[in-house]
Amino acid sequence: MMMERLIPVVVVKDLKETEVILNALQREGIGCAEITFRTACAEEAIRLAVQKFPQMEIGAGTVINGGQCRRALAAGAKFIVSPGLSEEVAELCRERNVPYYPGCVTPTEIMRAIALGITTVKFFPANVYGGLKAMKALAAPFPQIKFIPTGGVDGSNLNEFLSWDKIAAVGGSFMVKEALEKWVKS
Ligand code: 3PG
Repeated sequence: MMMERLIPVVVVKDLKETEVILNALQREGIGCAEITFRTACAEEAIRLAVQKFPQMEIGAGTVINGGQCRRALAAGAKFIVSPGLSEEVAELCRERNVPYYPGCVTPTEIMRAIALGITTVKFFPANVYGGLKAMKALAAPFPQIKFIPTGGVDGSNLNEFLSWDKIAAVGGSFMVKEALEKWVKS
């Protein structure tokens, strides 16, 4: 189970950037990274990250089908994140005992996740789907569910999210941006 409460959403455009990004995150005390399947080198970036940063929890994000999930798992991803819910991805992760965090923002989506044995969901895009207020309303019928709000999270609202005990973790690209800015300045 993922222990980190900050999940940087990483987009690696060029494989060479992988180490710079992960070094910068690590220097900020961040112990995990969600490398997204939005670029052609995502799979290789995950493989490289798993090899070079064994102390970090490297997962795959933007995994939208079984094919990508198989590739991510073969590259060594320790957790899988989707913007929505894929039953195929859920099944593959269950078979391999790898945590899967599907994007769920409606009661029906959360009920599908529960039926698949999932109790932690990504809440994406958090800023569009009502943020903390919406998650608090959803927690009433679904007390077993924990959330990972992502999308529009930044330094201005991060602590508000983290202070609620139903927040398993918070995801966002801002952590990568900030870590790289500090890295460049140093
Ligand atoms: C994601 O896929 O999780 C989002 O693109 C991250 O959203 P953000 O850039 O607003 O943090």
